Parts: sequence; structure tokens; C-alpha cells
Amino acid sequence: MCGIIGIIGKNDISDRLLNGLKNLEYRGYDSAGIATIHDKEIHRRRAEGKLINLSHEVSKHPIKGSLGIGHTRWATHGVPNETNAHPHATNMVAAVHNGIIENFQTIKEELGLLGYKFQSDTDSEAIVHLISYYLDKGLSPKEAFSNSLNRLEGAYAIALIFSSNCEKIYGARSGSPLAVGWGDNEMFLGSDAAALSNETTNISYLEEGDLVELSRDGANFWNKLGEEVKRDIVESKFNPIQIGKGNFPHYMLKEIYEQPTVIGDTLNTFFNPADSEIKLPSLGVNLAKISKVTIVACGSSYYAGLVAKFWIERYARVSVEVDISSEFRYRETPLPKDGLTLFISQSGETADTLAALRYAKSQSQHIVSLVNVRESTIARESDGLLLINAGPEIGVASTKAFTCQLVALAVFTISLGVSKKIIDKNESKKLSKAISEVSSKIADILQDDLQIKSISDNFSDVSNVLYIARGSEYPIALEGALKLKEVSYIHSEGFAAGELKHGPIALIEKGVPVIVIAPEGPLYEKTISNMQEVIARGAKVIIITDSDKLGDLDKKVWKIVSMPKVDNFVNPILYSIPVQLIAYHVAVSRGADVDQPRNLAKSVTVE
Ligand code: F6R
Repeated sequence: MCGIIGIIGKNDISDRLLNGLKNLEYRGYDSAGIATIHDKEIHRRRAEGKLINLSHEVSKHPIKGSLGIGHTRWATHGVPNETNAHPHATNMVAAVHNGIIENFQTIKEELGLLGYKFQSDTDSEAIVHLISYYLDKGLSPKEAFSNSLNRLEGAYAIALIFSSNCEKIYGARSGSPLAVGWGDNEMFLGSDAAALSNETTNISYLEEGDLVELSRDGANFWNKLGEEVKRDIVESKFNPIQIGKGNFPHYMLKEIYEQPTVIGDTLNTFFNPADSEIKLPSLGVNLAKISKVTIVACGSSYYAGLVAKFWIERYARVSVEVDISSEFRYRETPLPKDGLTLFISQSGETADTLAALRYAKSQSQHIVSLVNVRESTIARESDGLLLINAGPEIGVASTKAFTCQLVALAVFTISLGVSKKIIDKNESKKLSKAISEVSSKIADILQDDLQIKSISDNFSDVSNVLYIARGSEYPIALEGALKLKEVSYIHSEGFAAGELKHGPIALIEKGVPVIVIAPEGPLYEKTISNMQEVIARGAKVIIITDSDKLGDLDKKVWKIVSMPKVDNFVNPILYSIPVQLIAYHVAVSRGADVDQPRNLAKSVTVE
């Protein structure tokens, strides 16, 4: 979603603002802009579309100034055009904003009556007019800012510059993250550490309700009560090399190929390969006493939760409820007293998941989160943390974070089963061994990428694709369909294979590709029967299987993706890889923007 950068430097900084915005492209955006202060005036350049348009604009009409702010906007209120792009400005103040100001209409009407002229359709523009109103009343920039914050309802991270002062940048957060970067006589603001990774790795994170004032030699912080406070400086793990594409044409492909490594890294944090013993970090809860687990997440993270439901119920015999964050938070779900609620979020910043977490907290739940970003808001508001080690995921479609989530959930399942004495020592060793072999098995699957590519190239011109599977692979059918629709824009749906004849089979007509995920195991024969039903109705079947006993089915299916044989437990992790590759190759062959698909944002910080 929207991204923020702010720099208070020594020389002209427009190029550095643009470079910072480049690091934020992965979050998803549809317009961008920068503003600086020079000669006591605000200088602003904005452009619709990709950053290249803004760069051209800045090359044609350069701006001076050693202090400034920049923004990538993902439209919420008002279409993505230049007028709605940030920074918004009056002649006194310029602001960039992430989040949604819910009472902007009231503020707009009030200030409109007092003669303040709004140019855009955005909620964010209310911020600069409100601040200007307080400046007009004679308040200092900081007072005008904090008085305005008191009036704003909703979620925000804001960065501000004032034409009267080329020595200070201000920032504030409530609901949306904001980070301060510490440089050498230079200071920075960013919506995340990635924005600042060209400049510094020394980062302080604002707490909820904080206001910060940056000058060249440091930062002063105030908390939501207006008290001056200190915020720790931590070392960010982001570095520009890590967020480069290397030799890969797209981040998505790079991240798919990183999976053997990052799954190993994730496993190493929970698992001692020498004795195959699993060591979960302390989650602050007695796993032996847990009678129910509630899992809450969005999108791919929700599908990881669905796999965990299958695993935890099957292997640890604990009942699991999985919910979509945006539904859970408003459903007033009854939760067991002192129950365990597990939140899964790659970014750790998803607004709906965070709100759901706060609801669960208000219901005295024990909160554990599974995230990829230690400093994220969700991680910081949790009682216990399962941290995956996927490294920064830049491609908007989740790949490596999803499989690392599965690895952490598999480890959690074993620990829970052992604590509840459902999984004995031998079973625990067997399951742990299966997980420890996942990295090398994925490396084997990646060796077949060319074959998967050639299969994918064959159905890049279709308009519908179905995915079917059963059991723990059913969520992978959902994930495969999500991946394909996200990056290729082909309509695709995942179904539990047994559900087909209750409705979805009506979609089958001659030539519709159906991707069947069918590892050998207790549900194999049943899945194959469902596959026969779609073949009989003209579907073109691509079967992903480890079976070498297809017999005459070999001639009936259109294509086969062969998989290595592994313990059934880890099949959902392995079968994620071909569905990711299919989505990637189909999208590339259709010429889609794989890393930044239309309308999508990486970190969804609005409801
Ligand atoms: C799909 C995808 C999204 C995210 C969802 C939740 O490829 O990436 O569906 O999984 O937006 O994001 P996090 O995990 O950051 O809470």
C-alpha cells in the first residue's frame, strides 16, 4: 500500500527521495509524488502511474531543497491521478499520508465554510488544511500538527514539511507504521525499513500515538499523552542487496527459488538438526492445556491457516477454527476463556488482522502471532511470537513467506501434539525428519521448472482455470487459484474435489483447464474419481502428483507434473511450488506485471 519517505539531508535530495520511493514500489501504488522546501517555499512534483513518470517530471522540472518528503499512493478515496497524488499542500505545509482519515468529510465541510479550498477528492488533503487552519490561528508547526492529530479519526502515518522551516520534518503514527532512520547528520522517515535501506540501517519505530520531530542532528519523540519519550534504535535487517532482483527477471521468481534456503533458515530457528528436536520459542502459554486454537489471517496467510487446521486437528487432535480477519473482527465470535488465538501475517501490518488481534485481546485471549517482520505492529502487540525467516518478500504475490509460514505451522503442530502426548517420540522424529527434508525436495522440484513453464505456456490464453484437491492439499488448491488470478488476471477458483458435483462442475466445458493436486495417500483414489468426472465433461486436466501408477489415465490427462515422494504430512508445502510456478509462467507469458499486479498492495494497511 502507500509508502512514505522523508529526508532531511545536507544537499539537494530530490534524487534520493525518488530512490527511496523505488524501494517502496513493491508495496503497490498507482501514483507518486515528492515535495521539498527551498527558499521558504514548497516545491512539489507529482505524477499518475509508475515512478518512471514522476522521474521524467522531476528531470523536466527539477526541484531544489535539502529537506523533503515523498509518497507512493494506492488509491482509496479518489481516482489515481496527479491531483489526488500526494504530497498534498497549502502554501504553508505539505503532507504525505498512509491510512484513511474517516472524518475527512466533516473536516472538509467545516474548513470549506471558513474559506479553505480543497483541490482533490482525497481524505488526506484534510490534513494540510487542518494544519493550515491552526497555523493561521498563530500556533507553531508542532502545536498545529498535534492539535490536528487530536481531530483526526481513522488510521494514519503522516510526514510533514513546513515552508517556514527548512530544518525540521514532522511525523506521527496511529494505526499505520512509521520508522525513523538515523544517519550521519541526516535523518529520515519511512513507512518501513525498506524505504530507508539506501540510507541507513539504524531505525527507531514510532509507537501508536507517537509524534516525532526530526532535525539534522536527531529526533525528539512524544507519546500519545504528549510526554517526551525515547525510542530505541535497532539495526534493520533490510539491505539494498537483499531487496535486489539478482539475476532473476522478477522478484516473484527469485523468491520462489529462494525457498529451499529460507525454509532451511526458518526451520533452523525452531529445530536442532543434530537431534531432530523441535524447540519452539516460549509462547507464554502451556500448550498441554490448550483445548482449542483460533487462527485468524487474510489471503494466502489465511490459506496457511487452513492447512494448519488440517494438521493440528489430524496430528495434535486439538480442534481449530480458522477465520478471515475482516470477518472475525466484526463477528463478535465467542472465544474460550484464556484461549489461544494465532494471527498469521507475513507483513505483520495488515489492518484487518491487527484489528482482529485487538478484539481477541479484549476478550482475554492469549495472542500468538506468526510473522516475517519482528518489528511489525502485530508482532509487538502479541504475547508470543513465531518468527519466520523468509527475508524481505518484495513480489506482491506471497510465495516464500507462505511456505515458511507452513513450515512454522508444521513445527507448531508437532510441539502441540507432543505437549498433549498425542504425538509420541517416534512419530515426532518421523514428522520432524519429513520437514527437515523439505528444502532439498523443493530444490528437486525447481529442477523441473522448464517443464512446468512449457506446460504453463500452453494455457496462457484461457479465461477460466479450476484447481481441485482434497484434505490438506485443498487449501493449496485455493492458494494456487489465488496466485494465478493475482498475477495473470485469469479467473480461477479452487474447490474441494468432493464439492465439485454440488455445483462447481457446471463450470466445466470442453477445454477448461483443471489443475488436480493429487498426492498418493488416503484421499488419492477419491481425488482421481473427481478428476475422471471433469475429464468426462471435456476438461483439460493437469495433474500434479507423485503417483507412478496412473495407468491408462496417463492418456486421458492433458499434462502431468511429477512430484517427489515424501511423507504426506509435508505435501502441502511441496505442492505449493508447482502452483506458484504455474501462476508465474502463465502471467509472464501474458505480459502481466508479475511483481506489481494491478490494484494490489503488498501490505494492506487499510480496512
Ligand atoms: C497473496 C497475498 C495476500 C496476503 C494477504 C495478507 O499472494 O500475498 O493474500 O497473504 O494480504 O497479508 P499478510 O500476510 O501480510 O497479513
